[in-house]
Amino acid sequence: MKKIDPCTLVLFGASGNLSRVKLMPGLFRLDAAGRLPEHMAILSVGRGDVSREAWQADIKAMLDTKFKKGYDQKDFERFINRNHYHANPPTDPDAFKKMQEKLADASIFPQNLAYFLSVRPTDFSPIVEQLSGVGLLDESQYWRRVLIEKPFGTDLESAQALQAAITKHLKESQIYRIDHYLGKSALQNIMLTRFANTMFEPIWNNQYIDHVQITNNETLGVGDRTQFYDTTGALRDMAQSHLLQTLALVAMEKPKDLSPDSIRAEKIKLLQSIEPIPLTDLKHNAFRAQYAAGRVCAADGHGENVQGYLEELAKDGITASVTETYAAMKLFINNPRWKGVPFYVRTAKRMHEGNTAISIRFKKAPMQLSAEQHQNWLILNIQPHECLKMEVESKIPGLDIATRTMAIDMPQRLASDESIDSYESLLLNLMEGDPSLYLHISEVEAQWRLIDPIVKAWAADLSTVHQYVAGSHDPKESGVIFESEDQFWRYSIELGGDKH
Ligand SMILES: NC(=O)c1ccc[n+]([C@@H]2O[C@H](COP(=O)([O-])OP(=O)(O)OC[C@H]3O[C@@H](n4cnc5c(N)ncnc54)[C@H](OP(=O)(O)O)[C@@H]3O)[C@@H](O)[C@H]2O)c1
Repeated sequence: MKKIDPCTLVLFGASGNLSRVKLMPGLFRLDAAGRLPEHMAILSVGRGDVSREAWQADIKAMLDTKFKKGYDQKDFERFINRNHYHANPPTDPDAFKKMQEKLADASIFPQNLAYFLSVRPTDFSPIVEQLSGVGLLDESQYWRRVLIEKPFGTDLESAQALQAAITKHLKESQIYRIDHYLGKSALQNIMLTRFANTMFEPIWNNQYIDHVQITNNETLGVGDRTQFYDTTGALRDMAQSHLLQTLALVAMEKPKDLSPDSIRAEKIKLLQSIEPIPLTDLKHNAFRAQYAAGRVCAADGHGENVQGYLEELAKDGITASVTETYAAMKLFINNPRWKGVPFYVRTAKRMHEGNTAISIRFKKAPMQLSAEQHQNWLILNIQPHECLKMEVESKIPGLDIATRTMAIDMPQRLASDESIDSYESLLLNLMEGDPSLYLHISEVEAQWRLIDPIVKAWAADLSTVHQYVAGSHDPKESGVIFESEDQFWRYSIELGGDKH
């Protein structure tokens, strides 16, 4: 367990959705598990004029909603006493000065300060500037860290503009850019699976691997976030950070040690060696589509009729859109380990199943007994089930020589294992000063460099976007990006390929 200095967590946007659902409950659980330092305070900052008592009652409501089975009263007392509120009305020119005066009381607020900016992206740089203006980012005596929520920019240019604005006031070591995917233990397990086992590393290269699929499929649609989604799309929302980070963990070289700098150096190298998609042949390298009306499996397991994306937009007054709810792309990594191996990255809403996985298909075995003999697959499933599945060919007992595919299926979570939300580990890392699960600016830039040209080319192409029925498998037409005819989209359980 790493030691955490006494500190104050200053939470901007504490009344928002993210804070209610993840941050406050996460901090409470960390406290109950004894992971917060004894001297640690939480100062929630919001526009509204709310008393400390009213704010504490609101926090209790957040915890009651999250922990339906209740919680320990002693844990609650300790946690609630850490919590304070500061009103920061945008109309008050002295609001940040008043906050600085409040925080100056070291008997209540330990002077190492971690700021969590859970606010609209347009507010990130104004808040940093104002904190700096009142000396609250000064590290001459205590550390000062700023966590920036996702997204860090909406394209390369805006990411660089945000970086330029905040680095007037912050050093890189003070900036924690979040991708909450990296807080998932299943994602952290990718590195351990690769490097803590002897059997995988020797075959983790283009000599043995045919291709890799990085998949994030959801059964959910865009819900009431039509405005947000239509200006974002699947590539920006999921692929730009979550899926490219997953790819980096799968493909990077072994870091020289597990220090944050070494891990990030390897991820940066890998992301920078992904070849840009050739825009002159975009249609063989990337595919987009939108869901049409259909039927999906609802959370209660029953079928539910749902509208198409364009119908949902029309309800909210948006009459036309080429924004993708399905995006698939083929990437190549220009290094000796991966030369020639396609990495297929895909993400979609309103699919037949919700699943996040890394599926690795191995090359044909040296001995082919029949045309039906399958190639080996290794699947690292991230969610909903954390498991590792290996498919191997095995003799069917009997007089004939014939094989069938058998699976070694290994759950990576036992019933007795604690379940830690990704925000809990990331909050802890922020206070510990461990940025290894946060993004370096070079990673963010490399990711935008890959995604931006595709987003722009698709936005400029106003021809009708391919439609797929909600609740179906990948559109057959998406197969246009496969390198060879025997490649197919891999799903969570079935072996066979396209079952349209
Ligand atoms: N929700 C999620 O699951 C999720 C997931 C990934 C990333 N994020 C990111 O996390 C951040 C917060 O998300 P959220 O869903 O919690 O947002 P939210 O509920 O819309 O708002 C967060 C806070 O921002 C303040 N705010 C809202 N509208 C404002 C306005 N017009 N002017 C000034 N302040 C305003 C409010 O605080 P006060 O009124 O108290 O000032 C509010 O509590 C965003 O950057 C988002 O992209 C969220």
